[in-house]
Parts: sequence; C-alpha cells; structure tokens
Amino acid sequence: MDDLLKQSIIFVGGKGGVGKSTTASALAVMFAKMGKKTLIVSTDPAHNLGDIFHQEINGYTTPLTKLLWGIEIDPEAETRQYINGVKGNLKGMVKSNMVSEVHRQIDMAASAPGAEEAALFDRIVSIILEEGNGYDKIIFDTAPTGHTIRLLSLPELMGVWMDGMLERRKKTNKNYSQLLNDGEPVEDPIYDVLQKRREKFSKVRDILLNRHKTGFIFVLIPERLPILETEKAIKLMSSHSLNIGGLVVNKILPNQADGGFLQKRREQEKVYLRMMQERFTDQSLYEVPLLEEDICTLSHLEGFASHLQKAIYQEEGIY
Ligand SMILES: Nc1ncnc2c1ncn2[C@@H]1O[C@H](COP(=O)(O)OP(=O)(O)OP(=O)(O)O)[C@@H](O)[C@H]1O
Ligand SMILES: [Mg+2]
Repeated sequence: MDDLLKQSIIFVGGKGGVGKSTTASALAVMFAKMGKKTLIVSTDPAHNLGDIFHQEINGYTTPLTKLLWGIEIDPEAETRQYINGVKGNLKGMVKSNMVSEVHRQIDMAASAPGAEEAALFDRIVSIILEEGNGYDKIIFDTAPTGHTIRLLSLPELMGVWMDGMLERRKKTNKNYSQLLNDGEPVEDPIYDVLQKRREKFSKVRDILLNRHKTGFIFVLIPERLPILETEKAIKLMSSHSLNIGGLVVNKILPNQADGGFLQKRREQEKVYLRMMQERFTDQSLYEVPLLEEDICTLSHLEGFASHLQKAIYQEEGIY
C-alpha cells in the first residue's frame, strides 16, 4: 500500500464540487500541524484557496499558517512569462530583420489552445524541481478530473515530441556543419535549449512516477456519477503508469442525521459505499462525513482534517 504520510508530493483530484480544495487544504493543515513544512498549490484557474484561508494568495509563495505556505498559479500570467522566456531564449539566434515576424508567430502560438496548459505545466515542473527541497510536503489542489490527467500526461507527450524535435535538430545541424564548417560540428543553441527542457521533463516524470515520492488522491462522494468518473480516471492514470494513493469518500451522511428523508438517502448511500468497496479494491478509502456547515474557517478545516487523519491512520494501521 502506498504511504500517504511519507509521500512528499500529493495531487488531489476529482469531479467538480466534491471537496478537492477542502481536502487539499485539510491535508496541508494536518501536515503543518505535524511539524512538516508544507506548501499548498492551486492549479485550478478558478482558485479558492484564498477564500478558504481568508487571505489573498497570488502567484508567489504566501505564508498562511505556521509551517504552511500557499501559491495560486495564474495561468494567464504564467503564459505571458513563458512566452517572454521563449522570446528571450531566441535572442541572438534569429536575424534582427526576422525578430518581429518571429515574435508575432510566438504571440499567435500563445493564444492557441493548449498554451496555458503548457505554461501551467511548466510552473508545476519548476515548483516540483526548485521548491521541492525547501518543503517536506507539496500539496496540489487541481481542477476537475479531465484537465488534471491531461496535465499529468504532458511530460510523456512532451518527451516524445521533444525527442522528435531534438532528432530533427541534430539532422539540420549535421547538414549545416557540412555546408558551413567543412563537416566540423557547429554550436546549436536551440538544441541546447531543447535538451535542457527535455532533461527537466524527464526528471519531473521520474518524480511523478515514483510512488514513494508522489501520491495521487481522488475525492468523490457516494453517488453513481462520481464513482463512474473516478473509475475512468483511475484507468486512464494507470495507463500512464501513475499510481493512485487513495480515495477520499467525502460527505457521507453521519449516523446522527435523522428523519425519513435522510434515512432513504442513507440507504442509497450504503449501496454506493458497497459499490466503491467492490470496485476500488486496490485503493485505500478514507471516509469523511458530511459536516453540519460548509468548510469556511480554519477551525472547520481542522475539524475536517481530524476526520481525514483518523481515516488515514485507520487505513495505515496507526492508532
Ligand atoms: N465534508 C463536508 N461537509 C460539509 N461541507 C463540505 C464538506 N466537504 C466539502 N464541503 C463544502 O462543499 C463545497 C465544495 O467543496 P470544495 O470547494 O472543496 O470542492 P472542489 O472539489 O474543490 O470544487 P471545484 O471543483 O469547484 O474546485 C464547499 O462549500 C465546501 O465547504
Ligand atoms: Mg476546488
């Protein structure tokens, strides 16, 4: 079984509105309380960490509570920065009369679908590689399911794509050197830039695929559609060799909730809880009850975190 308590990078995913941000924040609060230096990162463009912690959080590390810091990645700002970086990398490589045309093309590429995702992914990579050593735990609160999986499969796709680019670059370079340098190899700065990115992606890929370092948690509620969607997501993640560390089953009706209506819902819930146990045999299931109020203060969050911690300890056999 994967050890959620030992992994240093945890991604929290799931369908819209099931409690991803709440779970990610509660885990972060829990780890900080255990004395672990923790960073929580929101990758969902519709951020709400700031609302949860009642504090303005931006693209940079913001202190939240003791031993806990937060970042909300702004995909637009990241894209702008990413594009400026790309332009910067090309400085001195493009003839001056071509610069404005090349920049125009890059700006066009920036507004193409996928550009924000690539920029967002670049930032995630930097956080993992650069901030990774400064924290004991990094928790990622992600956007609803599909988006996250696409994002996580990017290193693989990018890897293949970059191999192709590097290969082509090598060939071009060979032709050039034959033409220009009597066959002597020439320096190719673009090749170097590509090669560096390639190395960065493969490093992060190793971290994401290492189950001792990285965990993926799905949050779901005991209803049919979230179960089906989680099942699909797990299959897709497994096909990219990404291992799911556990499922948080959120908003379970507490025993003390009474009345005929709730009794009916509880019966339905039991069917779905059984279904989860049958379908997700490889996963740890961490159950959290529906609480009386939504989670909008630190003390609510601590309440949620204590339920979650109890469930994790029980699963991991710690008492
Ligand atoms: N166990 C719980 N008991 C009571 N309220 C809860 C519980 N878990 C989550 N909530 C509430 O449910 C709402 C949705 O939770 P949250 O924002 O964490 O979901 P999400 O999956 O991050 O949503 P989105 O997909 O929009 O990002 C919030 O108002 C939150 O306070
Ligand atoms: Mg959220």
